[in-house]
Amino acid sequence: MKIQNDILLRTLRGELCERPPVWLMRQAGRILPQYRSVRASLSGFKELVTTPTLAAEVTIQPVDELGVDAAILFSDILVIPEAMGLDYEMIEKKGPSFPKVIQTAADIEALSFGKPAADQLTYVYDAIAETKKGLSGRVPLIGFAGAPWTLLAYMVEGGGSKTFSKARRLLYADPALAHKALDKITTTIIAYLQNKVEAGVDAIQVFDSWAGVLSADLYREFCIPYLKRICEAITDVPVIIFAKDAWFAFDELARLPANALGMDWTMEPSWARSIAGPDKVLQGNLDPCTLYADAKTIEAETWKMIRSFGQHHIANLGHGVYPDTPLDGVKTFVNTVKAFRYQEVA
Ligand code: CP3
Repeated sequence: MKIQNDILLRTLRGELCERPPVWLMRQAGRILPQYRSVRASLSGFKELVTTPTLAAEVTIQPVDELGVDAAILFSDILVIPEAMGLDYEMIEKKGPSFPKVIQTAADIEALSFGKPAADQLTYVYDAIAETKKGLSGRVPLIGFAGAPWTLLAYMVEGGGSKTFSKARRLLYADPALAHKALDKITTTIIAYLQNKVEAGVDAIQVFDSWAGVLSADLYREFCIPYLKRICEAITDVPVIIFAKDAWFAFDELARLPANALGMDWTMEPSWARSIAGPDKVLQGNLDPCTLYADAKTIEAETWKMIRSFGQHHIANLGHGVYPDTPLDGVKTFVNTVKAFRYQEVA
């Protein structure tokens, strides 16, 4: 089906567009009253993730309410560990928790992986088909996965952590075992993303949310090669890599065969351009806290961001929008980007 508003896809293909496209990480979620009301009628987060009609409904809500240039499938990065044999629970106000974690060679040996594991996630592929039907070509649909390191970090740690020191410890204490686990996770991510593309997603984003807890050396050894495999395996749709806080690896990330690089708000656009060049598509990077400010401040900060990136830019936040962000602030951000025209600054 032809996409009517294809400004995100044109930008990702390297075309020069009239303005940056705009979407927000975590746009499908608690910032929207419509989401909170669907969520309140359910037993929990997982019911929403595993029910394709509901996942599709909340995926489309921000397109209707905010007018963003893309939908991102409502799901979670933790569906992959689950398909590999580690169930997760989503605990209210606390976050994810894994009753079973990986610690030993035997634990890693026991993981399911690759296409057989990815093929179990039929509810995700059904949610994509439902969403595509509901969108009827209005905007593209972004599919996503966690990066191999970020998924390994949750699988070893058993939940969130400030330092992910158990997972980092594995990289030093048994690098061969860590590589074995990362290889299995990567194979599963690739099969999963290929299934998503087949089900209809128009672009992919890979979230390396915990990149920032690693050193440059560890990132080079345990992350970059696996991200490269993912980029090389996904050939039919554009790929965005978002490695949060990975300024120390930005040059290597810029050399990956990805269509775009995501940036968090600690990275300066001019610095990123000096490394990645004027033609690299960069995505980001307004501090999500900007959206708590008054409309004038949000507009000024958004204009400043757009001007410092120049063209080949996708407007977004530097990380997911916080759940208690005022909806008016989010709308001011989206509308400011949509009203911008590059010629006006030339
Ligand atoms: O709008 C979108 O961006 C699509 C939906 C989406 C969710 N999770 C829904 C969700 C996406 C892209 C994710 C990815 C995800 N999940 C990441 C990578 C992005 C990032 O934030 O760095 C990570 C690290 C996770 C793991 C995860 N899921 C955590 C740590 C939590 C708890 C924290 C929280 O926000 O509550 C979740 C839960 C989660 N995933 C919620 C949503 C909307 C909140 C749960 C709820 O509504 O009850």
